[in-house]
Amino acid sequence: MGICCSSHNKVPTTILDPSSGLSQSVTTNNTTSSSLSSSLGGSNVSRNSQFWSASSGDDLGPGGQILPHPNLKIYTFAELKSATKNFRNDTVLGEGGFGKVHKGWIEEKSISKHGTGSVIAVKKLNSESMQGIEEWQAEVNFLGRLSHPNLVKLLGYCYEGKELLLVYEFMQKGSLENHLFGRGSTVQPLPWDLRLKILIGAARGLAFLHSADIKIIYRDFKASNILLDASYNAKLSDFGLAKMASSSQSHVTTRVMGTYGYAAPEYVTTGHLYVKSDVYGFGVVLVEMITGMRALDQSRPAAQQNLVQWVKPYLANRRKLKNIMDSRLEGRYPSKAAANVAQLALTCLAQEQKGRPSMQEVVAILEKADSISEKPKVPRIHNSYRNDRQQPLHHRSPLHVKQDVSRGRQGSPRGL
Ligand SMILES: Nc1ncnc2c1ncn2[C@@H]1O[C@H](COP(=O)(O)OP(=O)(O)OP(=O)(O)O)[C@@H](O)[C@H]1O
Ligand SMILES: [Mg+2]
Repeated sequence: MGICCSSHNKVPTTILDPSSGLSQSVTTNNTTSSSLSSSLGGSNVSRNSQFWSASSGDDLGPGGQILPHPNLKIYTFAELKSATKNFRNDTVLGEGGFGKVHKGWIEEKSISKHGTGSVIAVKKLNSESMQGIEEWQAEVNFLGRLSHPNLVKLLGYCYEGKELLLVYEFMQKGSLENHLFGRGSTVQPLPWDLRLKILIGAARGLAFLHSADIKIIYRDFKASNILLDASYNAKLSDFGLAKMASSSQSHVTTRVMGTYGYAAPEYVTTGHLYVKSDVYGFGVVLVEMITGMRALDQSRPAAQQNLVQWVKPYLANRRKLKNIMDSRLEGRYPSKAAANVAQLALTCLAQEQKGRPSMQEVVAILEKADSISEKPKVPRIHNSYRNDRQQPLHHRSPLHVKQDVSRGRQGSPRGL
């Protein structure tokens, strides 16, 4: 979910910079938003969720919808405890800053006497977590009212005493992070066409959030927040850091939060958050997809730790690009499409937010790249530097982004 965390050997994943002196409140249109600090509990969640008026605007794109009220089920703690076998370790799907995510099984007795059920994912707040009620409520308020094929479905929640839980549709293929950087024989390299499919899905999800009727800045776009269903359809999860963008003001000012390596430079340095700050994060994921390497990796030599800084000079040139393409693709990709995607990454990573494309434009460019079916080149192994894959899945850099962006001299991929 993206806030600084300290639980269970997890290295903090997220920028949390109280020393920045930036306001902790979200200022939109010169008023301090109180929509996320409204009271919690039971049906109050739905009453306090009037961010948007229900809309059927064309702008929302195919399948996108804003529901008039969060359509969420309130689960009891006992139900979720039973669904996850008392939150047993062997049900753990992953762990983030909010807490552990468990796989569970819910009996739907109302549907059939014989008891049919469904698989769910249950995210349980860790008592040591620095994330908490605000992020939990943002998730309920945002995700509870938004419906889109590329957003993960929030089914319901539980709020009992100090227990805060969120219940989602189960995503069979887990996170993109797992597929790109996971270890072990069960993790198969993603072929080029699946990479594009995932990127297009995630881009459509962001474009929906950015559409005129919604204008949400997602703020935590990264590989671990892109979940995949059985057919590798991508869905965005984790709205704990999402913010409404004001229509009359181009940005919101917030305490700097997000995830190392993905946050846009203007946000890191000024706290000004734009819709286009999300586009920068998308650019970082594009580069991770192209190279198969993590945005930040402390086990790489100093000049290569920040992936974007390292490979940026290689994205614009088709010949150089070959040197940074993920070796696990084994050369099986249309080089024209790869060049187009790399060029897109460069524009998404523009230093000035105004120079970045809209997510609608990103979708169109990716769809075009997807239609290119050049004859694959003879397999060639590139990008032999693969140390990052030997790391545990949840390793993240504890470095602050400000330190990262000013880090020493630039190296070159594979010492070229
Ligand atoms: N709905 C889901 N279905 C299947 N697996 C899920 C689901 N939600 C989360 N997971 C798994 O749990 C992991 C942890 O998710 P979580 O969002 O809590 O943390 P994160 O994204 O890794 O980190 P952060 O706290 O920085 O966002 C995910 O990477 C994914 O593997
Ligand atoms: Mg997450």
